[in-house]
Amino acid sequence: MVGSGGRCHAIVDALSRSPQVGKIYCAPGNAGIAEQAECVKIGVEDVEALVAFAKSEAIDLTVIGPEASLAVGVVNAFKESGLKAFGPTKEAAQIESSKEFAKRLMAKYDIPTAGYEAFSDYEQAWAYVKARPLPAVIKYDGLAAGKGVVVAESYEEAEAALRDMLLGESFGSGRVVVEDFLDGPEFSFMCVVSGEKVYPLAMAQDHKRAYDGDKGPNTGGMGAYSPVPFVTDKVREFALERIMRPTAKAMVAEGVPFVGVLYGGLILTQQGPKVIEFNARFGDPETEVVLPRLRSDIYALFEAAIEGADCATEWSEEALLGVVLASKGYPGGYAKGAVIEGLDGVESKVYHMGTARNADGEVLTAGGRVLMVVGRGATLAKAKQMAERDCARIKCDGLFHRSDIGHKVLN
Ligand code: AMP
Ligand code: GLY
Repeated sequence: MVGSGGRCHAIVDALSRSPQVGKIYCAPGNAGIAEQAECVKIGVEDVEALVAFAKSEAIDLTVIGPEASLAVGVVNAFKESGLKAFGPTKEAAQIESSKEFAKRLMAKYDIPTAGYEAFSDYEQAWAYVKARPLPAVIKYDGLAAGKGVVVAESYEEAEAALRDMLLGESFGSGRVVVEDFLDGPEFSFMCVVSGEKVYPLAMAQDHKRAYDGDKGPNTGGMGAYSPVPFVTDKVREFALERIMRPTAKAMVAEGVPFVGVLYGGLILTQQGPKVIEFNARFGDPETEVVLPRLRSDIYALFEAAIEGADCATEWSEEALLGVVLASKGYPGGYAKGAVIEGLDGVESKVYHMGTARNADGEVLTAGGRVLMVVGRGATLAKAKQMAERDCARIKCDGLFHRSDIGHKVLN
């Protein structure tokens, strides 16, 4: 397993339930993953070291978690070395790494999404935005870990975002995509894809904003739950047949067949689901509430996808709801190294997102998003009760969390 976040922990956890899996290594992992896998100190973008390690340990299959690894071509390098890796090539991963690639693909293959224009010139972008209604949706074209998107409610905010992305220093020399604003509830539809074959996973909903009431800046995601009651069978069918399958086919037709997890970030508009974004990997924190519901063997699924074989999946009816404990200040600057206590006294599954262990064996905060506390139950309300109770049991001065995860479906 390549990666270190909560999604990675959830994948390791799912793999460890497979009867086919003996030993799991994780590069680089974190304090929680270390309880279920042997962590090795290799960076997620260190292509040569990852290939060398997989060869020397005769690894049967490697799962590539982070977008950064995909974008630098870890899967390409594994393939060239005759190693099995689950994830898209660098070329196929463009569906996430380049907003413009994704937008052009959707336009060409008539996949429902918001209309857009792309710009590299600040003056042109600003002239376009100020002549249009608010809110303005402005996206940096490149990998920005979910933070390169501004939904501006005022022209001042829109102008500042354009300046930041096209003239500022905090992003690379970039382009921006300006999109039509779509209105409706969002959901995440992840599918394992192998060329034209699509194996759908259970639905989830993320919570992108930092604070309760969907206020504050966009983050990587502050909580999630699965299943998603407003995604009816009809909506799911539409999303599968009009969005996910056609996109998999389109990638094949474009000569960049996709193998891995295609993540559809969808919004349920009055006209049905439309694409907000595609990711080329498992979502984080969605994976932490989806994979524990998988009853069938995830290793078999990964292998089937790599080989292009059929594979049925089986899901539990159980509801899962997870709350992210993040470092105070996230998604802006934050301190690391705060001691976390109480992890042993919880009933929920706790996935580690950004943690480390010190010489005394204490678990410390080591990232923006630190832990994901996942409750379960017969209903989402019960799952939420468990997660909230356990969030209160975990003691750490440096953390905060949202208390309204699931608000769209629980009130
Ligand atoms: P993204 O990183 O593209 O998923 O965007 C982050 C968040 O911005 C999304 O989860 C939405 O809440 C919001 N967003 C992005 N694009 C749109 C759009 N076209 N219309 C409305 N909201 C959007
Ligand atoms: N939770 C959104 C993402 O993984 O990009």
